[in-house]
Amino acid sequence: MNANQVMDLYNEYVMANYTRKKLVIKKAKGSWVYSADGKKYLDFFPGWAVSGIGYCHQRVVKAVQRQAAKIMHVSNNYYNEVQGQLAQKLSLNSFGGKVFFCNSGAEANEGAFKLARAYGNPKRYEVITMQGSFHGRTLACTAATGQDKCKLGFEPLPEGFKSIPFNDKNVLKEAVSDKTAAIMIELIQGEGGIKVAESNYVRFIRELCDEKNMLFIVDEVQTGMGRTGKLFAYQHYGIEPDIITLAKSLGGGMPIGAMIAQKKIAGTLRPGMHASTFGGNPIACAGALGVLEAIEKEQLLKNTVQMGTLLKNEMIKLKGKYPIIKQVRGIGLMLGMEIIVNAPKAYDYCFAKGLLINCTQGNTLRIMPSMTVTEKEIKIAMEILEEAISKC
Ligand SMILES: Cc1ncc(COP(=O)(O)O)c(C=O)c1O
Repeated sequence: MNANQVMDLYNEYVMANYTRKKLVIKKAKGSWVYSADGKKYLDFFPGWAVSGIGYCHQRVVKAVQRQAAKIMHVSNNYYNEVQGQLAQKLSLNSFGGKVFFCNSGAEANEGAFKLARAYGNPKRYEVITMQGSFHGRTLACTAATGQDKCKLGFEPLPEGFKSIPFNDKNVLKEAVSDKTAAIMIELIQGEGGIKVAESNYVRFIRELCDEKNMLFIVDEVQTGMGRTGKLFAYQHYGIEPDIITLAKSLGGGMPIGAMIAQKKIAGTLRPGMHASTFGGNPIACAGALGVLEAIEKEQLLKNTVQMGTLLKNEMIKLKGKYPIIKQVRGIGLMLGMEIIVNAPKAYDYCFAKGLLINCTQGNTLRIMPSMTVTEKEIKIAMEILEEAISKC
């Protein structure tokens, strides 16, 4: 099929709830995607952070192929070794908690809300979130998301969510009541424009939650699985949350989500209270085990720190040259460049020149290459990005 034929199929049969660039992707490898019309693109925003270790990583491909030939699905009234093995790896590499598996970030967050409500039951049900946050598209996640534009047209939303200004201790203290079950944050707001949580704010949340017996939930759907140079972003802050949620790059391209909860609260969810038919699917879990193996054996956290430093420094150099760049933000390979004018124009220019990035909040270029990215690829990307900025 040629590119036009594929786009015609979408126009006729696929719901138009996404804005799509005119790019029909046929295949991909590492940081590169190949289009149906024979073009090659350098992807510095691979799969909206799903392809965290690059496209078609051999360890993931092989693990998935092997598992598919054995058994593709095991229902959750039985046991299967890969789900157990993945839970063990996630637990031992985080805070020793227990894992609930599902299929997406929104579903992982829903699980966290239900666990928090069950824990706080009967008095506490409210979850405090941050303005500018993004937590997913289900009704509860939409209610939790701190951006009005996501809520428009979907009211009335589920009750019990309140968004407050990010990084403001006093407001948070005021917002907590005897109904508050949990406080939830992204340590780096992704959709919100790469806004980083301050260390003293995060420590303050931990202390407040301890003092008032509330749960501290960290949404690591975008920051998790090594993107910031540590396996989980909370590990930069010297605290342990009560719950973290994961998805996106967890499965190396396979759809999988997870909620990890501290052992002392995980038992709140008893049989019959929560479930997901596909949760812990063996192929998805095998993909995730492949991701963890790659991160460990190929020292991808080290590469993320090194390449992240290089890329950020290059972006800061551009800021010195072009006054339209207001700020460069982020940690590891989760970076953003806020521009005063024409960010969407810069994004379109990059696309036309074969560099895929993202533009969020109308003014921030979000740049999140794969953890396998090389110096050479960063050089190519920076040349295109500079050209784009110079044209704004
Ligand atoms: C921080 C965060 N949480 C949750 C979600 C929702 O994940 P999903 O689209 O897999 O439901 C996203 C998606 O962009 C996200 O960035």
